[in-house]
Amino acid sequence: MLSETILEKLNNQVNLEFFSSNLYLQMSAWCHSKGLEGCGDFLRQHAEEEKMHMYRLFDYINETGSLAVLGSIDAPETDYESIHEVFRKIYDHECLITKAINNLVDVAMAEKDYSTFNFLQWYVAEQHEEEHLFLSILEKAEMIGADGRGLYHIDMEMKKMSQQRMAAGAPGGA
Ligand code: FEO
Repeated sequence: MLSETILEKLNNQVNLEFFSSNLYLQMSAWCHSKGLEGCGDFLRQHAEEEKMHMYRLFDYINETGSLAVLGSIDAPETDYESIHEVFRKIYDHECLITKAINNLVDVAMAEKDYSTFNFLQWYVAEQHEEEHLFLSILEKAEMIGADGRGLYHIDMEMKKMSQQRMAAGAPGGA
C-alpha cells in the first residue's frame, strides 16, 4: 500500500509524463508545419514513448491497490522561433523531469518504501538516457547551424534516427 505522500507524487508524475507526451506531439506538429518531417516523425515517436512512461506509473499505482488519478493537463506551447529552440526546450524539460524523479526517489527512500524505490530505478536510468539523447541532438543541431542547408541536414539526421527507432520496434510511427 502506498502512503498518501507517495501516491500524490506518483499521480503528479503520471500527469507530468502525459504533459511530456502532449508537448512532444505538439512540437511534432510544429515541425511538420515547417516542412521538418524527420524532426516531426521523431518527436511523434517520442510522444508515444512518454505515454508508455505514463502507463508504467499508472499500472504500478493500480497494482498496489491505490487509485491512479488523472489530473488536468496544461496545453503545451504551440509556436517556436526555430528547431534549435524546440530542442533546447526539450532538453530543459527532460532536466525538469529528472528532478521530479529524483525527488520521488528521495521520498521513497525517506519513507522506507523499498518497492517504490525499486520501481523508480527504471526511471532513473531512463532519464539518464533521455538527457543524454536530447543534449547530443541539441549540440549537433547547434554545430550544424540554422541556415537552409543546416536545417536540411538536421532534418535528415532526425529522419535517420526515427527510422532506426522504428526498425528497433519503437512505438508511434507516423
Ligand atoms: Fe518520460 Fe522524457 O521523460
